[in-house]
Amino acid sequence: MKLDPSMKIETFPGVYTPAEDTLLLLSAVKAGKGQRILEMGCGTGIIALHCAKAGYRVKAADISLDAVENARQNAAVNALDIDLAVSDLFVKVRGIFDVIIFNPPYLSSQDSEGLSEAERRPLVGGEAGHEISVRFLEQAPKHIAPGGRIYLLTSSESEGGVLEAARSLYSARRVAERRIFFELLAVWELLLK
Ligand SMILES: C[S@@+](CC[C@H](N)C(=O)[O-])C[C@H]1O[C@@H](n2cnc3c(N)ncnc32)[C@H](O)[C@@H]1O
Repeated sequence: MKLDPSMKIETFPGVYTPAEDTLLLLSAVKAGKGQRILEMGCGTGIIALHCAKAGYRVKAADISLDAVENARQNAAVNALDIDLAVSDLFVKVRGIFDVIIFNPPYLSSQDSEGLSEAERRPLVGGEAGHEISVRFLEQAPKHIAPGGRIYLLTSSESEGGVLEAARSLYSARRVAERRIFFELLAVWELLLK
């Protein structure tokens, strides 16, 4: 999906500012006509709103109330409609989706040393960095429509643990990547086996 420069995206304090990972993931997302899309961890809502603008039915969830309020405001400003929920991964998410998108927090606790608590929250994926992604991959199968897929962003800093967990449940294909200094960001398309 292409970035729409005319879209107005504001970032509330404490909500993740869209960055290279956001744009890489957005560029890799593909969906078929009429498909149902879920964005997990929507932050400002930028990816979910691009999907809505492209005509898809979109649900978006985030564990942070500030992020959900931020996405709600950005939806209103752009006159777009998305269904929003505050949810720890799939706890409050009902339904099945053809496409599920997630740019997860992926830094390890060690890599986030020196950041404030507010800065850490959208960035830290757990002690080793992969824990939230692994929980997501374990919970997602109940919400994937037959033939559906996941687009998941990883960083070389914590990718090993994510792919290890994905192996038994999904077939994985790297569909985009971008190097940022020492880190390699990748987008994986995952299909249930
Ligand atoms: C790296 S940010 C990505 C934000 C946005 N999707 C983007 O690409 O700009 C990760 C997001 O995941 C959310 N998040 C963290 N843990 C979560 C969880 N357990 N359930 C749902 N969302 C979570 C964070 O609040 C944050 O908004």
